[in-house]
Amino acid sequence: MSRNGKIPFVDLVTMHRELEDELMAVFKSALETAGFIGGPAVEKLESEFAAYCTAKHCAGVGSGTDALRFALTAAGVQPGDIVLTSPLTFIATTEAISQVGALPDFVDIDALSYTMNPEELRNYFENKCSFDRWTGRWIHKTLGKPVTGVVPVHLYGQTADMDLILESAGKYNLTVIEDACQAHGAEYFSKKENRWRRAGSMGQAAAFSFYPGKNLGACGEAGAVTTNDGTIAAKVRVLRDHGQSKKYYHEVEGYNGRLDAIQAGILQIKLRRLDRWNELRLECARYYNKLLAPMAGIVTIPHQPSWSRPVYHLYVIRTANRDELQNYLSEAGVGTGIHYPIPIHLQAAYASRGWTWGDFPVAEAAAEQILSLPMYSGLKAEQQERVADVIAQFETSCAAR
Ligand SMILES: Cc1ncc(COP(=O)(O)O)c(C=O)c1O
Repeated sequence: MSRNGKIPFVDLVTMHRELEDELMAVFKSALETAGFIGGPAVEKLESEFAAYCTAKHCAGVGSGTDALRFALTAAGVQPGDIVLTSPLTFIATTEAISQVGALPDFVDIDALSYTMNPEELRNYFENKCSFDRWTGRWIHKTLGKPVTGVVPVHLYGQTADMDLILESAGKYNLTVIEDACQAHGAEYFSKKENRWRRAGSMGQAAAFSFYPGKNLGACGEAGAVTTNDGTIAAKVRVLRDHGQSKKYYHEVEGYNGRLDAIQAGILQIKLRRLDRWNELRLECARYYNKLLAPMAGIVTIPHQPSWSRPVYHLYVIRTANRDELQNYLSEAGVGTGIHYPIPIHLQAAYASRGWTWGDFPVAEAAAEQILSLPMYSGLKAEQQERVADVIAQFETSCAAR
């Protein structure tokens, strides 16, 4: 509990206080060498993070959004293509698709895992598309554009059901870019390969965000692309640096999307602790599951499929009286969040696309009922007990009405 008895939704202050000496040394060394952008610190982080994700390559970039944007372009998505993703995600996923000139479209989620429903992905092609024999591409029947990519989002620290998504990607000729921005270290059991696979190693490429609140977070903006494809990695390196592979020789127009050396140094220090932090998050999730079990009537705990080893970036419960419960917790000093209150297809930013309520009913129903409880590696058992007590009090107050 914080000194004022409140339980924050996330506590980034304590974690950084514990690492202060090591982090300050990174700043000091950057000042002494004036090595601020790129250089050995970035390269070292890239090789360590690639190894962590069991991917062959990693390219550090400016943010998770940059990572998605560069990965899509480097993997060959073209302006005018349609790229599919989940309607229950952060808008950066669809921003990136639009910003490479493609058109985002959605496949509804699975009601239990909140990640892309692979059956709906298949239905999308069987019902909404037709195969064009001349180009070998699947064309959306009403939009008249080729569907060339899919961005499964590994939401809340849990991967999407990748075997089936990859199977469809093979069948319908799709580029797969994992949105792993919330899933550093999450694992998926591939029945097809009979082994656990890490987020960031399964698609043609994957995007990670190192936004400060992520399981692996910088002290500012940062991100990375991981891939097993050397050509994609090389293209991302060019795109992130104004399209140049050699100073002032620009192969293409690119972006200012580089990772700075201070963030890379900070991320190296934190990466060494990531497995331990993820374990602590898992322990917290298990304890919440236990504490909330008696309230199964009003609260649904997160579903963990047998194929998933999640890293609990968020601990998301589901309840019919979500807004009331959130207010009740807030009045009791417990911070919560909603990830996300409005599915992307219903956001004002996409009004011109004409989507409406009922288009993706599973995501819409989830968005009305999900609530993220406090979750971070330093969360204490007594804080969790207090959160559960407040939820129990809320249950009693509902029953008394
Ligand atoms: C699912 C998802 N995708 C993409 C992003 C974008 O990452 P960034 O904020 O680093 O650009 C985020 C970050 O919140 C995210 O949660």
